Amino acid sequence: MVTFSLALRRKPALAEQPEVSEPVSSGGAVEPNWDEYYRRTLGREPRPLFRRGIAAATAAGVVPGQAVEIGFGDVTETLTLLDAGWRVLAVDPTPAAAEGLRSRVRPSHAERLEIQAAPAQDSSLVPFDLLYAGYALSFLDRDGFRRFWLTVRDRLRPGGFVVVNIFGVRDTWAGASDMTFVDREEVDRLLEGLEVVEILEEDADGDSFSGPKHWHVFDVIARRPGANS
Ligand SMILES: C[S@@+](CC[C@H](N)C(=O)[O-])C[C@H]1O[C@@H](n2cnc3c(N)ncnc32)[C@H](O)[C@@H]1O
Repeated sequence: MVTFSLALRRKPALAEQPEVSEPVSSGGAVEPNWDEYYRRTLGREPRPLFRRGIAAATAAGVVPGQAVEIGFGDVTETLTLLDAGWRVLAVDPTPAAAEGLRSRVRPSHAERLEIQAAPAQDSSLVPFDLLYAGYALSFLDRDGFRRFWLTVRDRLRPGGFVVVNIFGVRDTWAGASDMTFVDREEVDRLLEGLEVVEILEEDADGDSFSGPKHWHVFDVIARRPGANS
C-alpha cells in the first residue's frame, strides 16, 4: 500500500499544481488524507486550467448551462460555477467534500446544485455542457477511468467542453496501482473525435516539503463539435 503524507509545496513554482498529499513510496494502493488536504487548500483561487477552460468555452459562445465537476474537493470551482449561473452536478466520494459544499453553497444557488457523494465511475452523469476535473481523474483506477470516460463521451453535448487534467506516466506517483496515468498517445485516443483546444504537458521536477517530486501532468481542454462550432 502507498501511504500519503500531506506535504505542501515549499514554494508554489507552478500555480497549476495542487498542494497535494504525496505518496512516500511507489506501488500498491493509495490512501490520501483528503480532509487534511481540503483544510490546506480552502480559500485558494480557482485553478489556472479551470480559468482557461471557462475562458475558452465563453469565447466559443457557450453560455452557462449544465456543468459537472468531478473531485470538487475544497469546492472552489463548484462555487465559482454556481456564481456564474451554471447548474452544477458535483461529484466527489469523500464525505468531507460534500459536507463542505453543503455548508458553503449560497441558499439562493442551492437549487442549481446536485451533489453526488460517490466515485466518478459510479456516478450518474447528466448530459452536460462543461465538465471540469482538476487533479481528480487519476484517482480512478484503470477500469473505473475507462468506464467513466465512455460515459463522459456519451453525455457531452454538442458544443460542450471537457476541461481536465490527468497525471502522466513519468509522474513520481505513477507506481500507484489504483490510479490512472497516461501517455500522450492515450491522451490523443481519449480525445478522438473532439476538437482539441489545448493540451499542455508538464514534465518537470518540482519541489515539495517532503522533497523533490517529478510532475508529469496533461492539461486538456477539448470540445465536442456541434452547436455553435
Ligand atoms: C487532489 S484532490 C483535487 C481537489 C480539487 N479539484 C483541487 O483542484 O484542489 C482530488 C479529489 O478527487 C477526489 N476523488 C478521489 N477519488 C475519486 C473518484 N474515484 N471519483 C471522483 N473523485 C475522486 C478526492 O476526494 C479529492 O477531493
